[in-house]
Amino acid sequence: MSRLSQQATPLAEALNAQRINRLAHFDVPGHKGGRMNPELPDYFGKLCMSLDVNSMKSLDNLGHPVSVIKAAQELAAEAFGADNAFFMVNGTTSAVQTMIWATCGRGEKIILPRNVHRSAINALVVNGAVPVYINPGRDARLGIPLGMGVSDVQRAIEENPDAKAVLVNNPTYYGVCSDLETIVSLAHAAGMKVLADEAHGTHFYFHDKLPVSGMAAGCDMAAASLHKTGGSLTQSSILLCNDSVNPD
Ligand SMILES: Cc1ncc(COP(=O)(O)O)c(C=O)c1O
Repeated sequence: MSRLSQQATPLAEALNAQRINRLAHFDVPGHKGGRMNPELPDYFGKLCMSLDVNSMKSLDNLGHPVSVIKAAQELAAEAFGADNAFFMVNGTTSAVQTMIWATCGRGEKIILPRNVHRSAINALVVNGAVPVYINPGRDARLGIPLGMGVSDVQRAIEENPDAKAVLVNNPTYYGVCSDLETIVSLAHAAGMKVLADEAHGTHFYFHDKLPVSGMAAGCDMAAASLHKTGGSLTQSSILLCNDSVNPD
C-alpha cells in the first residue's frame, strides 16, 4: 500500500509541473494549452486550458499506470479502505459494468434489486449474464422504492446457489440502504461475490455517522461516483476492490 501521506497529490503535482515548465505542445489536444482557439481560455480560464493535456511519460497513463496515476490510485485505495482503486472516466456506469463483467459471464446468474440502475441492465444486455431480480417493495407513504430485504436476498441465494454475485445499491437513488453487512455474510457463505453500486454513497467512506460503506462492509467491489456525492469533475468515478479480487 501507499507510502505517501494522504496530503500528497502526485497527479495534480505532475500536471502543475508540466505547466510551470512551459512544456511545448507537439501533441493532442490540438488547442495547444489554449493557444489555438482564444475562445476556449476566455471561457474556461487559462489555467484550466494549460492543464488539459494528453497522457505523456511524466503524467502516466490511465490504461496501465506505473507512476503518478498509480501513486494517486494507491492513495485513493487507502483513503477508501480498499486494497485497490481504479480511476474511471466514463462515470460510475463504467465501474458498475466492470464489476459485473469481471464477475459474471454469459449465462451466469447475478442477484440484484429490480430498481438497479440501467448501467447494470445494459451490462447484462452486452455480456448475456442472467439477472435474478429481487423486488425492493415500496414505501407506501413516500411512494419510493426501498432496498432489498434480507429475507428476500436469503431466499434468492437459496433458490439460485449457482449465482456468481449479489449487487446491492448502497444507497438507492432515494438514499435507502439495505442491510449490507448481513447481505455480505449471506452471499459470502454461499460463495458469491458482493458488488456495491455506490453511485450515491461516496460520502459514506468519510463519516462514521453515515451508513456503512461497501468496503467497510466487506464487499468485494464497489463503484463510487466521485462526481456525485464526492464533488469531483463530471464523469469521474472510482472502482474499489478488496483483496478477493485480482486487480489485473
Ligand atoms: C444508482 C446508480 N448507479 C449508477 C449510476 C451511473 O452513474 P454515472 O452517471 O456516474 O455513470 C447512477 C446514475 O445516476 C445511479 O443513480
